[in-house]
Amino acid sequence: MAANAAASAVAHGIKSVGVVGAGQMGLGIAYVAALRAEIPSVLLCDASQAQLDKGVSFFESLLKKDVGKGKIKQDQADLARSRLITVPSVEDFARDSSKTPDMVIEAATENLAIKQKIFGSLATHLPLTTILATNTSSISISKIAASAVPAGAKPGSEEAWKGPARALGVHFFNPVPVMKLVEIIPALQTSPDVLERAQAFARACGKEITTSKDVPGFVSNRLLMPFINEAIMTLEKGIATKEDIDTTLKLGMNHPMGPLTLADFIGLDTCLSIMETMYRETSDSKYRPAVLLGRMVDAGWYGKKSGKGFYDY
Ligand code: 3HC
Repeated sequence: MAANAAASAVAHGIKSVGVVGAGQMGLGIAYVAALRAEIPSVLLCDASQAQLDKGVSFFESLLKKDVGKGKIKQDQADLARSRLITVPSVEDFARDSSKTPDMVIEAATENLAIKQKIFGSLATHLPLTTILATNTSSISISKIAASAVPAGAKPGSEEAWKGPARALGVHFFNPVPVMKLVEIIPALQTSPDVLERAQAFARACGKEITTSKDVPGFVSNRLLMPFINEAIMTLEKGIATKEDIDTTLKLGMNHPMGPLTLADFIGLDTCLSIMETMYRETSDSKYRPAVLLGRMVDAGWYGKKSGKGFYDY
């Protein structure tokens, strides 16, 4: 599969991929791009050197585990590792012209202003042919795409039109190396050619793809987040213990994780931010975040990543 997949991504002109953000999502995307899609250069960018170092060690530990389990050979692991290049800023994506990304996936914090700033910077430093994808969980893709305009471009100019046309949503799921889906969300501005090439890249990473319109939460979080939120309200109302809520869904419905464990796994700050976006953009009360969710985030209890959420880690 890997050779065909690689041929398919490369045939679609994707020989170098940039990933912005070396957190759990960005790292996972870099991993499948380097190992499964066999993209010759995978540039991983994060402003924090500590986060980059942590990302690289996790990347290496994933390769080691896959070799240990006989899933890949040592030379495949070595090749995948050699494809990964770390850079401190998006300006460095264009440092070596032979490795300038044909596609960038932004997996930074779930914050519109941060994403707009990154897209503006990517548009300024990369050619108009580079596809700009966001891994946002719920923010308007059309709004992010609108910021993919180089600094100084005049309104109505070719650059101002073509910039947003090469942007779209490419939504991976956590843990990226394991989850089989990528949800693709074209913005209003996305050109059909960009959509097709992004689909080819996701398939090359070994993923099934689905397509959603650009609505708050897309298909995935429109369904998942109200479910998690309802589990939190069930706990808040004292209807059952957290363990019983999780066990009901795990054993009664064969979910791999109960909803409260899953919320901790995704990050309670992320869950809250997605619910807030959906509620703000629709004014529909079914998306109103549970008060307890907000309070836990106020307390800095973000779930697994902070050591405390519904459970202790
Ligand atoms: N990175 C890479 N691989 C990981 C991993 C990680 N962070 N965590 C677990 N894995 C791998 C393990 O190494 C193992 O691989 P192996 O089969 O080669 O040994 C495999 O996953 C299974 O792991 P475990 O045996 O340790 O544990 P489980 O069998 O309990 O599986 C799980 C763990 C895959 C996380 C499973 O519990 C699961 O599928 N949970 C639901 C996850 C989910 O719903 N994710 C989507 C969240 S929503 C989202 O991401 C969208 C966003 O917009 C909010």
